[in-house]
Amino acid sequence: MTPIFNHVAVIGAGAMGRGIAQIAAQAGSQVWLYDTQAEAMQKARDAVFQVWDTLATKGRLDADTVTAYKTRLHTAAILEDLKSCNLVVEAIVERLDIKKSLFVELENLLPAPVVLVTNTSSISVTAIAAGLKRPEQFAGYHFFNPVPLMKVVEVIAGLKTNSEVCERLTAYAKQMGHTAVQANDTPGFIVNHAGRGYGTEALRAVSEGVADFATIDRILKDQVGFKLGPFELFDLTALDVSHPVMESIYNQYYQEPRYRPSVITAQRLAGGVVGKKVGQGFYNYVDGKAVVPADQLVPDVKEFPPVWVSPRASRRIELLQLLKDLGANIETGASPSPQALTLVAPLGFDVTTVAVVERLDPARTIGIDMLFDDAATKRRVLATNPATRSDMRDAAHALFAKDGKAVSVIRDSGGFITQRVVANIVNIASDMCQQRVCTPNDLDVAVTLGLGYPLGPLALGDKLGPTNVLEVLFNLQTVYGDPRYRPSPWLRRRGAIGLSLLHTED
Ligand code: NAI
Repeated sequence: MTPIFNHVAVIGAGAMGRGIAQIAAQAGSQVWLYDTQAEAMQKARDAVFQVWDTLATKGRLDADTVTAYKTRLHTAAILEDLKSCNLVVEAIVERLDIKKSLFVELENLLPAPVVLVTNTSSISVTAIAAGLKRPEQFAGYHFFNPVPLMKVVEVIAGLKTNSEVCERLTAYAKQMGHTAVQANDTPGFIVNHAGRGYGTEALRAVSEGVADFATIDRILKDQVGFKLGPFELFDLTALDVSHPVMESIYNQYYQEPRYRPSVITAQRLAGGVVGKKVGQGFYNYVDGKAVVPADQLVPDVKEFPPVWVSPRASRRIELLQLLKDLGANIETGASPSPQALTLVAPLGFDVTTVAVVERLDPARTIGIDMLFDDAATKRRVLATNPATRSDMRDAAHALFAKDGKAVSVIRDSGGFITQRVVANIVNIASDMCQQRVCTPNDLDVAVTLGLGYPLGPLALGDKLGPTNVLEVLFNLQTVYGDPRYRPSPWLRRRGAIGLSLLHTED
């Protein structure tokens, strides 16, 4: 295989630079690592050599391949050593002024057809290219950490980037074993933009006292299939990285309410409680392991009240079947008897509002989240309202735990936890399609590979039914009166036909 770029320079030999250098050498390119800190450069080269040696020890690479890889990875003492390169990937400190002056210097030093790219995660590609003589030869090439394992890269076109440059970068990504997605130069590009719905909405639920961090993590992992809960993810990424990203995207979009950061992370950052790396984040860490508070205990209930289900409950037929399977005594009257545990299953609305609107006794009314098919989840989520009696809460908890499935009981809010988080993720993704940040297909590909979501946001919206997602958003907007929940026009239009369809004019 002849590499599309046969001589590649990687400037900045930190966490990202070394990973990029590794996969470029593996793709057959001659690679030069350059860093202002000679020590960092040497350390990076040693680390990459170590990775290859380990792979050889495990039998995943043969000795000849390792030797070939090693002979292709060089270090450069001065920028002039990079003159033969036809691609330069910059992965230095995240500062616009420093990146700009580096590229001006490179442009003056290297012969004209060279392609210059930045691995920036938060600075505008167009802004870095401003002042260059050949901005058409400049693009964003945004990898994820750790580069060899995170097999996606965003190819970002600035205002003046030549499309042929993006095509070559896409083809080269493939040679490096990565999937390239195309993004327009917009704040957060694809992955960091699409990721806004998850943590910010979970933080908002915490700030309302709906549930604690660990419960929210459990709910989102067990109901949706996320590998990490939002607070586990914050701890892993560390708030000194993720809080500034939240602020940056919010401000770059001129305070768009959908991306509003939280005072919770601002305070924790100020207090140094930033995550796993300091031993203290949303969880405490002992020997590098999170101390996870125990799950809620199932109450010991001997006698269960009869159960009445609101005719307006979502997935009512599935809910009635579930209750039957759990051995509940189901009431069939038009209204609940005075003893009945009264179940509602709203989309977006809070349990309190539903109890009032449906003229139910709030003391006996409990909500259950039925957005997802119960069979597809590992946890059921119930919500009380401020008037719910503790015997009714305990009876509902014990009843829904009868078959051994985990149950969380949370306080009342619009959209439980899962509904509000999922609806936000789908809505932000839809709005990105509306803004033409990327194609719907690239959006789902980038998010599954870059964030590890079980499904792309648009496929998730389709699975749940776009009209259900829209209902959650409309009702959240009514409950909170907050523009962050306004549905994207793209979601409203595509709601009827599906979100992840590729071949449409929209
Ligand atoms: P890092 O701090 O690990 O490494 C940066 C390296 O650049 C250091 O070795 C430093 O000595 C060197 N450096 C600084 N200024 C330089 C200059 N003027 N010329 C040459 N070398 C210079 O940083 P990291 O994490 O590798 O990030 C690099 C870039 O990649 C940043 O733009 C960052 O935003 C971006 N990025 C980082 C990700 C991450 O998870 N760490 C993910 C995606 C992008």
